[in-house]
Amino acid sequence: VEKLALSHPEIAFQLSIDGKTKTGITTMKTVLELDAGDICECDEIEITENMTNIELKERINKLKKEKGAVIFAHYYTRDDVQEVADFLGDSLALSIKARDIDAPIILFAGVNFMAETAKVLSPNKKVLIPVPQAGCSLAESCAAEDLAKLKEKYPNHKVVSYVNTSVGVKALTDICCTSTNALKVVESIPADQPLIFAPDRNLGSYIKKITGRDNMVIWDGACTIHEEFSLEKILKLKEEYPLAKVVVHPECKASIVEIADYVGSTAGILDYCGQSQAQEFIVVTESGIIVEMQKRYPDKKFIAAPTHSGEKPCNECHYMKMITLENILSCLENETPEVYVQEPVRKAAEQSILNMVAIK
Ligand code: 13P
Repeated sequence: VEKLALSHPEIAFQLSIDGKTKTGITTMKTVLELDAGDICECDEIEITENMTNIELKERINKLKKEKGAVIFAHYYTRDDVQEVADFLGDSLALSIKARDIDAPIILFAGVNFMAETAKVLSPNKKVLIPVPQAGCSLAESCAAEDLAKLKEKYPNHKVVSYVNTSVGVKALTDICCTSTNALKVVESIPADQPLIFAPDRNLGSYIKKITGRDNMVIWDGACTIHEEFSLEKILKLKEEYPLAKVVVHPECKASIVEIADYVGSTAGILDYCGQSQAQEFIVVTESGIIVEMQKRYPDKKFIAAPTHSGEKPCNECHYMKMITLENILSCLENETPEVYVQEPVRKAAEQSILNMVAIK
């Protein structure tokens, strides 16, 4: 195994056969972790002929035209994936685009809750997701059954949920929010109305602090990627780059949010870096966003913030990085895996998303 792109149970890999690099995909039931350099046995592997990125992009673009398909990608995806996207955006912009776009097929290069949101808003379109296993630690921290139990405990509370949730959780939610509009969403609810805020404890605590609301029950979930950033190492980096602005996603811990020059969603961070007079930025969110930052502002310097583990200079969401040009091509060719959502749950979830989108 030369290179791995996915994690258990599906593994996309590169291996060498007769000196030629091949890419493939396999499902491993017993091996939980593999590293490049490991030798592994598997029952069946599907080898997809090795193509250069240029060939892959050409075939993807040709198929998009033939099928009238559009590709949506989040800023956290790989740089070559971002290059084949028709729409690149934050979770809010992509949700709105999914609702408004006139296309028979949407291929969502992102994690599964994002593709589900697109399907909820566009039930008559075919929504494809190259890797359905690409999840989100936040969404996984909040099961619909557990939220239902919490609602029973607090029957008078309205529920605000982050879009990083399953469709089942959205169906139990009054208003969804993203990190772009969480403050507006909470402020749209009368101050004396008690709330359940799920599932991000960091975003929830940040909003609670700004609004001064003491009637918010906050779910105890977190994004494992954003929680990995190290305050000490960021402060050290700041000594090296004293003029750099620290830009932070609100999914980070409060101690990091406190030292930020700007706190906001991926789209907010991008705009701030453009408007700021500063030339250097320490970026405290998933490092995929730096691709778009460098594209938009080539003369500015973007430094990925360090994490506790120290092995990597920056933090990557392995779920987002599961999406590759290879699996996008295969998904477009076969028009599968497709996202399906059952109608009653879709309708309830749709209402909570539309309630969010209606808040300007
Ligand atoms: P944005 O809403 O800022 O795009 O963030 C999405 C996300 O999943 C952050 O972890």
